[in-house]
Amino acid sequence: MRSIIVGNWKMNPTQKEVRPLAEGVAKGLSDQATFHDVVICPPFVFLSAVGEVCHGGTLQLGAQNVCSEPNGAYTGEISTEMLVDAGCEYVIIGHSERRQLMGESNSDVNLKMAACFKYGLCPIVCVGETLSERQDKKTLNVIRKQLQSLSGLKECSSNCIVAYEPIWAIGTGTVATPDQAQEVHHFIRSEWGSITGSHAVKEMRIIYGGSVKPGNIDEIMEMRDIDGVLVGGASLDVSDFLRIIHYKEKVNG
Ligand code: 13P
Repeated sequence: MRSIIVGNWKMNPTQKEVRPLAEGVAKGLSDQATFHDVVICPPFVFLSAVGEVCHGGTLQLGAQNVCSEPNGAYTGEISTEMLVDAGCEYVIIGHSERRQLMGESNSDVNLKMAACFKYGLCPIVCVGETLSERQDKKTLNVIRKQLQSLSGLKECSSNCIVAYEPIWAIGTGTVATPDQAQEVHHFIRSEWGSITGSHAVKEMRIIYGGSVKPGNIDEIMEMRDIDGVLVGGASLDVSDFLRIIHYKEKVNG
């Protein structure tokens, strides 16, 4: 299975920083071959600028959100079809910042996922627990509930990615230990396997997000059930992001 490294720029950077940043990453990819997928998810207004840099190269384009409705009177929203037309292959859905700050529910995320499948967009669906849920030992129950609310997971194992993003690790500098992340990833794989009722668990890409940096990427990617990372802050720095992309491969492949 191909690993995948995704940069989530969130509500950054400025217009004049966009091209140098995207071009720096694209150049780093052409200078040193990589055997995994590399995706940048800029804000909507920068999709076409980053798309021009990606064009025909190894770098792929994703968005940070999408509307579940196909078109119509939804002021301020962007549809899956628009994203596909803009060159996106991926879209992040259910990020904890959207769940917590914009009130997105499990059922909203489920509808967005269905909209992605209709247009062949690969959803990167985020799940994760708060610090107090972890302290109360509710992590696996929270994750199970989030996964079970996603009816789309039944249909799909390959063109869908689940991102485990413990909320307490996002933007805090506190990364989950490799063992903590591995435990949850393993759990997600087995839950996802029982939801689909299939044996395709090996095709399912499960990625980790939360304070991924050049200094911790190698040990994170060593973990058996971690198939890639979703990177926030460090994806805004060309050399940091390239170091993450060029992580040391697992000894046993
Ligand atoms: P940081 O890498 O800045 O902690 O952000 C993680 C994240 O939310 C990626 O979607």
